Amino acid sequence: MTTFVLALLAFLAVFCTTHVVSNKHDSLYVNITILQSATTQGAVCLDGSPPAYHLDRGYGTGLRRWIIYLDGGSWCESIPDCLDRSTSSLGSSNHMKQRGFFAGILHNTSKQNPEFHNWNRVRVKYCDGSSFTGDVEQVHSEHKLYFRGARIFKAIMEDLWRKGMKSAENAILSGTSAGGLATILNCDKFKCLLPESAKVKCVADAAFFINSKTIYGTSYIQEMYRKIVNLHGSAKNLPSACTYVMEPSLCLFSQNVIPYIQTPLFIINSIYDSWQVK
Ligand SMILES: *[C@@H]1O[C@H](CO)[C@@H](O)[C@H](O)[C@H]1NC(C)=O
Ligand SMILES: *[C@@H]1O[C@H](CO)[C@@H](O)[C@H](O)[C@H]1NC(C)=O
Repeated sequence: MTTFVLALLAFLAVFCTTHVVSNKHDSLYVNITILQSATTQGAVCLDGSPPAYHLDRGYGTGLRRWIIYLDGGSWCESIPDCLDRSTSSLGSSNHMKQRGFFAGILHNTSKQNPEFHNWNRVRVKYCDGSSFTGDVEQVHSEHKLYFRGARIFKAIMEDLWRKGMKSAENAILSGTSAGGLATILNCDKFKCLLPESAKVKCVADAAFFINSKTIYGTSYIQEMYRKIVNLHGSAKNLPSACTYVMEPSLCLFSQNVIPYIQTPLFIINSIYDSWQVK
């Protein structure tokens, strides 16, 4: 018995080490593209810097296939909160890394990413704090903050369109957490950008935030969503079929807005989402 357990441990040790080493060896980093031209449309990060993404071109049968991944990273709901973010990579391209890590569905080997390795793979940086829904013309006078998430989404998609997405045969919009919510909220807009013949789908990962009371009896997430929508002027950019029947901030709950999304949508969500448990 002991020998067996030791043999098993030895096997696991070797197996795990090999596994880690091969992963490290295959690590893929892709250079950033700062979309300077977006500033003319006022599509800017919280601090007014241009938005950014990382693109790794497809090859072979993947040349006309595109997978877009929207980064997550919570939201900002007040001026101090957004001001804080504006000095980090979540609010300014001046603070983003030159190289973006591409793993999982963004990796370029069939071993790590059997389905999408040769597709055009894009990682969109999140620097607006509103899940790409904000659009306020006025710049916050004192702190020079910009609320332009929806403009960023549009500007980046249009740039990718020019870079070949206009002839896509397949396209997937995806994202995790705040990026998963952005995926749902922008799914039909994404579909509209693509050729009618393209097969378009969305995949939202960890995008469900349950509308329930905290142990203190407060509606934490509902209250936060209400502040986000107000601060970022998001209402007009949310799916209108949803905002027509309920208060716009309630359309930030995936469970409320999903019935109004027309494009095929896939959902990945843990029952015990660690962020929500907290
Ligand atoms: C990425 O950027 C670095 C630094 O600017 C540069 O040296 C390198 O050639 C770039 N790689 C690619 C693939 O463009
Ligand atoms: C994946 O990307 C790396 C870095 O750009 C490159 O060296 C490698 O050849 C690529 N692999 C495939 C299968 O294209």
